[in-house]
Amino acid sequence: MSEKKANVEAETASAQHYFTLHDNVNGKSYDLPVLEGSEGPRVIDIRTLYRDAGVFTFDPGFTSTASCESGITYIDGENGILRHRGYSIEDLAENSDYLDVCYLLLHGELPSPEEKGDFDQTITSHTMLHEQLNYLYRGFRRDAHPMAVMVGVVGALSAFYHDSTDISDPRQRMTAAHRLIAKMPTIGAYSYKYCMGQPFVYPSNSLSYSENLLKMMFAVPTEEYEVNPVLARAMDRILILHADHEQNASTSTVRLAGSSGANPFACIAAGIASLWGPAHGGANEAVLKMLEEIGSKDQIPNYIKRAKDVKDDYRLMGFGHRVYKNYDPRAKVMRKTCHDVLGELGINDPLLEVAMELERIAVEDDYFVERKLYPNVDFYSGIILKALRLPTNMFTVIFAIARTVGWIAHWKEMMSEGSTKIGRPRQLYVGETERKFTAVDVRESKQSRGWSWLWGGNG
Ligand code: SDX
Repeated sequence: MSEKKANVEAETASAQHYFTLHDNVNGKSYDLPVLEGSEGPRVIDIRTLYRDAGVFTFDPGFTSTASCESGITYIDGENGILRHRGYSIEDLAENSDYLDVCYLLLHGELPSPEEKGDFDQTITSHTMLHEQLNYLYRGFRRDAHPMAVMVGVVGALSAFYHDSTDISDPRQRMTAAHRLIAKMPTIGAYSYKYCMGQPFVYPSNSLSYSENLLKMMFAVPTEEYEVNPVLARAMDRILILHADHEQNASTSTVRLAGSSGANPFACIAAGIASLWGPAHGGANEAVLKMLEEIGSKDQIPNYIKRAKDVKDDYRLMGFGHRVYKNYDPRAKVMRKTCHDVLGELGINDPLLEVAMELERIAVEDDYFVERKLYPNVDFYSGIILKALRLPTNMFTVIFAIARTVGWIAHWKEMMSEGSTKIGRPRQLYVGETERKFTAVDVRESKQSRGWSWLWGGNG
C-alpha cells in the first residue's frame, strides 16, 4: 500500500491548502481542507460540511465526487491512461497473464515465481462448484439470459461457503476472494451450457485459467477438445483488459453493498446486477446488436445522424465514457487483439469493417469531437467474442468473470480499512411539504387519472 494512503487523516488535520466556501446569505465562510493523492486531481474534504454549514453537496451521477481513497487503479481520462498498482494496462496486457493481474490487484505487487506458483495452484484448487449448486441451475428456464442465471448462482454462494463469510476475519476474506475468482468461469460456463441444453463440463486442473474457461464452454463429452492457444491468449487478454477500472458503477455498487457488512458473495452478486446495464458492461452485447443492425458501411451515416439527434435518445454503443475524454487505452489493445484473432482464425467478419468505418467517421465528426466521444473498451470486444463463437448474451458474462477480481480487490481494500462507515448519501428533497391526512370519503372526487399516471407517465 502506498505511504500516501495511510496519511490521509493526518493530512486533513494539518492541511495547508484550503478551499474557502463563502455563504453570502449568512455571511459565514468555511475552510475545507484540500487533500492530495499520489497523482490525479486533489479532493476537497467536505466531511464536516453538513455539521458546520447545514448544507449538502449535490452531484447526481457523481461526476465530481471522490467516494473513497484507493491505491488499486489510476485513470487519467484526459490522456487515456490506465494503470493498475502503477503498471500500465498496455504493459500488463502484453506481458502478463490474467492471474498475475489478479495477484497484483489483490496484493499490490506482481507475484514472485514462488508466489505465482502458489497463487495459481490456490485458484485452480477452487474452480469446482459444490455439487448441490449444479442443481440450482435447473430452477431456471433454458432460455434465461445467462446474466440472470449468473446473478442468481453467485448470490447463492453464501448459502454454501459459510466458512468464508465472516468479513471480520482477513483469512476468510481472502478465501472468499480466491473462491470467487476461481469459480466465476465455472459459473459462467455452466450458465452457457445450461442455456444450450448441453451437459456441464468440469474444470481441468491441468489447464490455465483461460484455457479452462474455453474448454468448459465449448467441450462436449462426445469428443476430445483441444484448446487453441491463440484463442486462449486472446481470452486471457480480454480478461486482463476488463479486470478493474477504479470506481465505476458496478465497483461502487460492490463497495456500497459491502459498507453495510453484507457478505462478499452477496456484494459481488450486486456488482453483477449493476454491470448488466447497457450503459455499463451490457454495452458489449449492445455494440454487436448495433453493428448487426447497421449491417453495412453505407448505412453508417443514418445511424450517426440518429446518434447526433438531440430528439432521439439513440446512442452509438461502445462510444463515450464518463472518465475517458480521449481514446480508452483498452480499446486500442482490443482492436489489435481483434485483428490478431480474426487473422488467426482466417475470419473476414464484415462487422469488423463496419466497426472500423464507424470509428473512422465518428472520431472525425464535430459532434463526437466536441463531446470527446471515443471508442471504449466495449467497442471491439464483442467482435472478438463473436469470433470465439460466444453468443452475444454471453459477452457481459465474460466481462463479469473478468471484473470479479476488481470488485473483490476494492471490497477487500475497503474492509481492511477497519471501521467502514456505511455508505448513506443524502438528497435534495423536492416532494410535498407537510399536509394533513383526509379520509377517502371527504377527498375531492377526481376523474380517474388513468394507468399511465400510476406508473409515472405524463397522463
Ligand atoms: C463501461 O465507468 C467505467 O469505468 C465503465 C467501464 C468499466 O470498465 O467499468 O469503462 C465499462 O461501462 C464503458 C461504457 C460502455 N457504455 C457504452 O458504450 C454506452 C454508450 N455510451 C454512453 O451511454 C455514455 O457515453 C456513457 C454512459 C458511457 C457515459 O455517459 P456520461 O459520462 O454520463 O455522458 P453523458 O451521457 O452526459 O453524455 C455527454 C454528451 C451528451 O450529449 P449532450 O447532452 O452534451 O448534447 O455526449 C452524448 C450525450 O448525449 N453522448 C453520446 C454518447 N455518449 C454520450 N451521444 C451518442 N452516442 C454515445 N455513445
